[in-house]
Amino acid sequence: MSTTSRDWKLLTFILFMFIRTHADLPGSWELLVPDAGIASMHTAVTHTNTVILLDRTNIGPSRKLLPPHRCRHDPNDPVLKVDCYAHSALLDLTTNSIRPLMILTDTWCSSGQFLPDGTLLSTGGDLDGFTKIRKFTPCTESTPNSASSLCDWQELEDIQLSQGRWYATNQILPDGSIIIIGGRASPSVEFYPPRKTGAVNFPFLNEVEDNQMDNLYPYVHLLPNGHLFIFANNKAVMYDYNSHSIVKNYPVLEGGPRSYPSAGSSAMLALAGDYSSATVVVCGGAKYGAYLHRTTDSPANGSCGRIEATGPDPVWEMEDMPFARIMGDMVVLPTGDVVIINGAQAGTQGFELASNPCLNPVLYRPDQPVGLRFMTLNPGVVPRMYHSTANLLPDGRILIAGSNPHYFYNFKRAFPTELRIESFSPEYLSADKANLRPVFVELPEKVAYGAAFDAVVTVELPVVGVVEVNMASAPFATHSFSQGQRLVKLSVTSAIPEGPGRYRIGCVAPPDGRVAPPGYYMVFAVNQGVPSIAQWVHLAS
Ligand SMILES: *[C@@H]1O[C@H](CO)[C@@H](O)[C@H](O)[C@H]1NC(C)=O
Repeated sequence: MSTTSRDWKLLTFILFMFIRTHADLPGSWELLVPDAGIASMHTAVTHTNTVILLDRTNIGPSRKLLPPHRCRHDPNDPVLKVDCYAHSALLDLTTNSIRPLMILTDTWCSSGQFLPDGTLLSTGGDLDGFTKIRKFTPCTESTPNSASSLCDWQELEDIQLSQGRWYATNQILPDGSIIIIGGRASPSVEFYPPRKTGAVNFPFLNEVEDNQMDNLYPYVHLLPNGHLFIFANNKAVMYDYNSHSIVKNYPVLEGGPRSYPSAGSSAMLALAGDYSSATVVVCGGAKYGAYLHRTTDSPANGSCGRIEATGPDPVWEMEDMPFARIMGDMVVLPTGDVVIINGAQAGTQGFELASNPCLNPVLYRPDQPVGLRFMTLNPGVVPRMYHSTANLLPDGRILIAGSNPHYFYNFKRAFPTELRIESFSPEYLSADKANLRPVFVELPEKVAYGAAFDAVVTVELPVVGVVEVNMASAPFATHSFSQGQRLVKLSVTSAIPEGPGRYRIGCVAPPDGRVAPPGYYMVFAVNQGVPSIAQWVHLAS
């Protein structure tokens, strides 16, 4: 045995013992950035492997200064008329460094979505940001000494939203345009680029509103039949956004209100096979009245409802999570399993309104029978309360940012403003699974709808049968919902051996924009539940 191989085995053994004694539950935590300078309330991963962190502007000083000589002059800012602090920043995943970004108008409780060219569209917010549209076109960070040419926010001057939108949800559509849905006192939808119709009334949002709102940040999923599944409070509809009509009313989901401020979460499960079926899961939420009466210790609900949204006669199938949870984030992994992470076990969304952090993530395995789907994972140590986020990274980890349940930055109160950024690594990244991990050696950078293409991977241990090739969108995560989150499993051939440890996989790109809207996707090869590092692939017509 060679020295390096022996050293490697010893190191692996020590690591294994360390993990054994320190973490009996699956998954591991890592502190990525000890002080990001801002608390990210909205987070999105770009196709240049950076992460856009976005807070709000009217909170006074953050802990990160803008570059020298750059300040925001705003006579209407309630706290700082001249503000030289960053309220948005860019995390470079290759170096874990943070670069301040310049955001001018208030993005508090705004919405967002990536456009087909990889530009992030940010819409609405509070005060001067209420009708604002902004763009961030990602660049490659590794161009030193060119600070002036580095990418930053651009605030559109020529167009704005038809209605102010605070707590709206965005979803990219099959043609690459964006629908912007709802918001406080805005029961309507509109589009970017703007359509002639302007804002179109959407009475469903009014009908489900109760005396503590519960219709904000609706859960929106683009179904593969081209319609939208829209859930607010405890009700859902299938919505035709072209004719602005309700195609179907779903049954009520029992267990209390789920959407903002009642703090549940939702994800659409992976689309696969002939893409004719889509299933949506809604998990957790606050007890009705917790927001109305500001009862911080009111126990959260721990139930999940699951519904085949495209089925002929859909019903909610109910199941309990191991923990009751509010403000959990549901992150669809490259495998199709879902991690539910962050949040608390009592109270509701809003400033100073929750208690009892839920430090244990749980894994939801959709293919298991009811009763066997949940697995409790290794707990973190940092409470991630109101205004925290979770995003899948191209290497399969989950990025955890934010938590600021206070109106301003406050490092003294319970659950202080959180500037640490962590990552959670699901068990599939553990060292003992490394020899199952595929590595891409060939993959196109761009694919067209319906196109056949090959992926070539290497794997250390022999592969028999199928290596999945799965495409994950990069969503806009905020307020415990990931706008535009989507996993599409491609139709693939069995892995064909091509020399030692090398396999060719025949793949077919999604048939159309209803299955996968145009844009950049993280493409993962998945072997026996172990994902590769993703490569970004541009899906276009
Ligand atoms: C959720 O709420 C419903 C209705 O109040 C209740 O019947 C159910 O037991 C709750 N489930 C959990 C797990 O909290």
